Amino acid sequence: MKVLAILYQGREHAKEEPRLLGTVENELGLRQWLESQGHEFVVTHDKEGDNSEFDKQLPDTDILITTPFHPGYLTAERIAKAKKLKLCVTAGVGSDHIDLPSANKAKLTVAEVTGSNVVSVAEHVVMDILVLLRNFIPAHEQVVRGDWDVAEAAKRAYDLEGKVIGTVGAGRIGYRVLQRLKPFDCKELLYYDYQPLPEAAAKEVGARRVEKLEDMLSQCDVVTINCPLHEKTLGLFNKELLSHMKKGAILVNTARGAIVDRDALVDAVNSGQVSAYAGDVWYPQPAPRDHPWRTMPYNGMTPHYSGTTLDAQARYAAGTKDILERFFKGEPQIPENLIVQNGEFASKAYVQPTKALS
Ligand code: NAI
Repeated sequence: MKVLAILYQGREHAKEEPRLLGTVENELGLRQWLESQGHEFVVTHDKEGDNSEFDKQLPDTDILITTPFHPGYLTAERIAKAKKLKLCVTAGVGSDHIDLPSANKAKLTVAEVTGSNVVSVAEHVVMDILVLLRNFIPAHEQVVRGDWDVAEAAKRAYDLEGKVIGTVGAGRIGYRVLQRLKPFDCKELLYYDYQPLPEAAAKEVGARRVEKLEDMLSQCDVVTINCPLHEKTLGLFNKELLSHMKKGAILVNTARGAIVDRDALVDAVNSGQVSAYAGDVWYPQPAPRDHPWRTMPYNGMTPHYSGTTLDAQARYAAGTKDILERFFKGEPQIPENLIVQNGEFASKAYVQPTKALS
């Protein structure tokens, strides 16, 4: 079979650090294993435009491996050209870079390594919340500049204790964020999700479910987005929804860039409606040099790397191999790893019941 992987470039870093498995150089550690079984393995980072390596290789590819960090966007047009494609594996979590309704029509299987980097992201979310709430970045930049102005640093610095924090999505990552926030003695931990947490899990972290998203946003000092990108969350945080946030609240988004309207956010930060914004996800990726979130005031943005720590890479590389092995042997996939199969959504996280929409 022909296996095509679209991965990010590691260059000298991948040579220095062989545990950078998610790079084109280190190839998820799969080459020897795949070739020893007679499979062809093509790896590239070149994914944009009709002349990309992605487009050239796709027509006779049987299995496509992509990663959310350097998304190979598998659009409806590309699916139509990929006549031999059977299986798409996301090395990581989040398969929104694949047109899932079209994947269903083409009866593709889309699987991801569920859970592989959820702790990595939850830790990053807590870091982002603290970095913004403590006004860390401007304070740090001040000392690098050679300045010393305590008042400038302190005038936007707060404690997490006593604040109201809300997560949009309380799945694997959202719940882990709540678990990690519990010891900070926040005033309240809230969540909005159409799938309620099991009672014991909600009790363990002391989280309260809010049925209407706007109602949750109006109560929160900090909002963290932890839901997948799908047709109902695309551009969800637009001008209207941002206006429901408590004035001066902090917003952290490590879910997907396109959940937040790019320009509406810039306006909200400039007006002080949102006091600061952080995250690692953008649309498109790589983010263009002139993407306004790079230079917006009070931003704690990074490239997309929260879910690709070296620890996470070991887990999603092993998980990718497991998915391939099951596929080659004709064995069933681990049910939690399946996003779409046999023309249907296998994961509830991507199918929002219309009734619960607020
Ligand atoms: P999960 O499937 O365990 O949980 C997602 C939760 O979001 C589910 O409970 C689902 O019901 C809920 N949800 C879906 N639509 C919603 C909506 N409109 N409003 C509120 N809740 C909604 O997924 P997990 O593992 O927690 O990951 C969540 C997302 O985080 C992924 O889909 C991916 O986009 C992103 N992610 C980002 C990473 C990074 O490196 N920045 C790495 C891993 C995941």
